Amino acid sequence: MPHDKLIAGNWKMNGDIKLIEEFVKKFPNIKSFQNIEVLICPSFPYLGQAFEAFKRLGIKVGAQDCHYKTNGAYTGDVSSKMIRDLGASYIIIGHSERRDNYQSEDSHIFEKVKRAIDENLTPIICVGENLAERQNNDTEAVLKNQLKIFLKNDLKEVDFVVAYEPKWAIGSGQVASLPEISKTHSLIREIISQAFNMEIERSSRIIYGGSVKPDNSEKILKLEEVDGVLIGGASLDPQDFFSIVKEFKKV
Ligand code: PGA
Repeated sequence: MPHDKLIAGNWKMNGDIKLIEEFVKKFPNIKSFQNIEVLICPSFPYLGQAFEAFKRLGIKVGAQDCHYKTNGAYTGDVSSKMIRDLGASYIIIGHSERRDNYQSEDSHIFEKVKRAIDENLTPIICVGENLAERQNNDTEAVLKNQLKIFLKNDLKEVDFVVAYEPKWAIGSGQVASLPEISKTHSLIREIISQAFNMEIERSSRIIYGGSVKPDNSEKILKLEEVDGVLIGGASLDPQDFFSIVKEFKKV
């Protein structure tokens, strides 16, 4: 069955109770919108409140990371079960800000994806090259390396989302060109299909992230290869975020 398009907001280490309340006041109820799933990923402490507040609007919630183990002596960490208990349905895994800030991140991506799946949470696996890699024409090699986790059979039967987020486009106001986005999304689909040794279903979603704003989202969303967007900055403003959601209705 084809999946709904996904519009996901990543609040990063921003937002608070006031922002949740602002969304409740300003973001229209989208429960009647067809073929679209809208998601906001706030910081851990707000997950429960955001879940309660946003379910009335038709918005799902997700986390920005989880620990790679199920439980144990990991002071300050949060497990996928805890995230599930608070009402989340997705977990972002391997965001480039985490890959950059935490040395061991790359080596734990597969386990984190597994922990998400164990709790029936859909992983949003982030991949993307940095500027130097792009300039050296290394994008394909970088993506192949980041997508190696799909060589394990465990992921063949599960629901997942891959977010292509070129690092140089995140928070920079620079967006990848439309042909670049199409080409790279097709490449990602091909790499995963080859890893699985079969066509991956058209329903597996590959979404784009990196400076998506109300004024560029329509063109991006119109691309056949794009199954949704992951939005940082513009997801912190209920009006901007809703403008992007509205574009989907047009697309
Ligand atoms: P941005 O962030 O929309 O602010 O570029 C995207 C992301 O980091 O997921």
